[in-house]
Amino acid sequence: MRVPFYDIKAQYDELAPQMDAAVHQVISSGGYVMGPNHAGIEREIADLHEMKHGIALNSGTDALRILMDAAGIGHGDEVITTAFTFVASVETIVQTGAKPVFVDIDPHTFNIDAAKIQAAITPRTKAILPIHLFGQMAEAEKIAEIACANNLVVLEDAAQALACTRHGKPAGHYGIGAGFSFYVTKNLGAAGDGGMIVTNSDEIAEACRSIRVHGMGRERYYYDHLGYTSRLHEVQAAVLRVKLTKLAAWNARRAELAAIYNDVLAGSSVQLPTILEGNNCTWHQYSIRTSRRDELQAFLKTKEVDSMIYYPVPIHFHEPYKAFGHGAGSLPETELAAKEILNLPIHPHLSDAQVRHAAESILAFADQTAAV
Ligand SMILES: Cc1ncc(COP(=O)(O)O)c(C=O)c1O
Repeated sequence: MRVPFYDIKAQYDELAPQMDAAVHQVISSGGYVMGPNHAGIEREIADLHEMKHGIALNSGTDALRILMDAAGIGHGDEVITTAFTFVASVETIVQTGAKPVFVDIDPHTFNIDAAKIQAAITPRTKAILPIHLFGQMAEAEKIAEIACANNLVVLEDAAQALACTRHGKPAGHYGIGAGFSFYVTKNLGAAGDGGMIVTNSDEIAEACRSIRVHGMGRERYYYDHLGYTSRLHEVQAAVLRVKLTKLAAWNARRAELAAIYNDVLAGSSVQLPTILEGNNCTWHQYSIRTSRRDELQAFLKTKEVDSMIYYPVPIHFHEPYKAFGHGAGSLPETELAAKEILNLPIHPHLSDAQVRHAAESILAFADQTAAV
């Protein structure tokens, strides 16, 4: 039985009539730039996160970059984050001219270890960028407390944390704003790229809206900021609005599949995901750990079970970022997690049987290796 890691087409198939109508409506309208769907998805995502403003953009990467620009982060500043992430979290810090400062992760959640932040603060620290990985939030209330005590800004990388909450508060509420990604494979994915900033600050929202369109102010062809061209395409906004109607059901299905994995794998030798108390997890990934990761991945392949490694190489080991880190051994939990993590299929269009097959294949691997 094949267990694919993603099945994006199944999302389309479930919603084909609505999706076709929405795309056709945009294409036939001639209104392609910042139309009613652009405004609609901004309102709907902001409402979902109980935030005042949503600023739709063409990627999650731009969401982080524009949020940092709006917060005034630049040359001479330091931004505390982790090296266990998708490159965009760090790439955008470097692009502003600021220096990323890496703090190690909690080995159970893969998110920043809040207890290690204070030691990384220097007189140049301007911001903390927690990354809410895999569908659960970092210990945002502790991070906000440290930030407040040290007069720092918190920006949340919520690319993988749409609809996540911590102690009942959605991502975005613990800092000056959050950036989401609507990349195809996210829990809410566009038919291509997309992203959004949410914020409660009128000032930050106004700056983000301006930076999104070349830094243009309220008056056309008058510029207040250095900007980009980063609007969300109207077709993507329309696709996202259709898929948003299914997000709660799809996330609920992910939770059911996670429960199957937890059930079948309980007591096995692999480390199962830890969800912190107070977190509502949306299961963007189901991540296990084992010291025999590469062997397990090869074995799963023979059983037609796909798996992925998020992330195989910590950011401080990559050439453009080496200068910002302190080499091998400097982030022991990050470095070990990169060697041990394995992400299993958990998209909402999997059947119970497929997930049971994936989980039982892991048990079979353990039995087989125990017998050797
Ligand atoms: C943690 C994290 N940050 C930032 C991004 C960037 O988002 P995008 O791919 O939409 O530019 C992603 C997306 O893959 C991500 O997973």
